[in-house]
Amino acid sequence: MLNIVLFGPPGCGKGTQAELLVKKYGIQHISTGDAIRQEIKAGSELGKKVTSFIEKGHLCPDELVIDIIADYINNNKDVDGNIFDGFPRTTAQAEEFDKMLASEGLGIDLMVSLDVPDEELIQRIIKRAEVSGRADDSDVNVIKNRIDVYKAQTAVVADYYSKQGKYFPINGIGTIEEVFGRICECIDKISEKK
Ligand code: AP5
Ligand code: MG
Repeated sequence: MLNIVLFGPPGCGKGTQAELLVKKYGIQHISTGDAIRQEIKAGSELGKKVTSFIEKGHLCPDELVIDIIADYINNNKDVDGNIFDGFPRTTAQAEEFDKMLASEGLGIDLMVSLDVPDEELIQRIIKRAEVSGRADDSDVNVIKNRIDVYKAQTAVVADYYSKQGKYFPINGIGTIEEVFGRICECIDKISEKK
């Protein structure tokens, strides 16, 4: 069982890399952002509660996102591993997550964090806005707000995993394949030690 937190600011490449990792390692992927967007699309109660947060680029309330992850873990008990993309995003989420995993006899093996400068993040997201249809991609002020929220509320989660010796920053600049190679190298080193 390999449990990976894929971390980094908006547009750093979490979703792109997760898809490749799923294929290579045969593990599952959950993006809390994707899960929330599906709830909004389906018009569910949860979706209605979070629409305004996501549209402004603010974080959704911890308890709602934690519920999404709890459901996911419950429904994916027999997998070879998981990629958690965009979760945890606050220290409170990280603490709750550890408790949740521990109660199943599980834990996070590593957090891979993709480092990409702000200018490049903004350019990537503006480009993606042409096709993504995401409400939080279409306005440059919302994109900048997402980056600010990351720095103010989320970046600190790296310290949480760093204290556990599980934090691995990776250069997120280069081709998708180059970044993928760096991530795999890191994962393989950790897997060998297990
Ligand atoms: P979420 O969906 O997680 O969005 P995000 O973190 O802002 O990240 P993105 O999905 O925009 O980018 P990504 O890192 O996946 O990059 P991608 O691979 O797409 O969250 C959205 C919202 O949901 C949050 O703002 C919040 O409201 C809510 N939310 C989610 N989780 C939450 C939580 N835990 N707690 C509270 N609220 C939560 O790549 C971006 C683009 O760049 C793509 O077009 C891609 O093709 C391109 N690209 C990728 N790699 C490269 C490369 N190496 N070179 C050039 N281009 C590249
Ligand atoms: Mg994503």
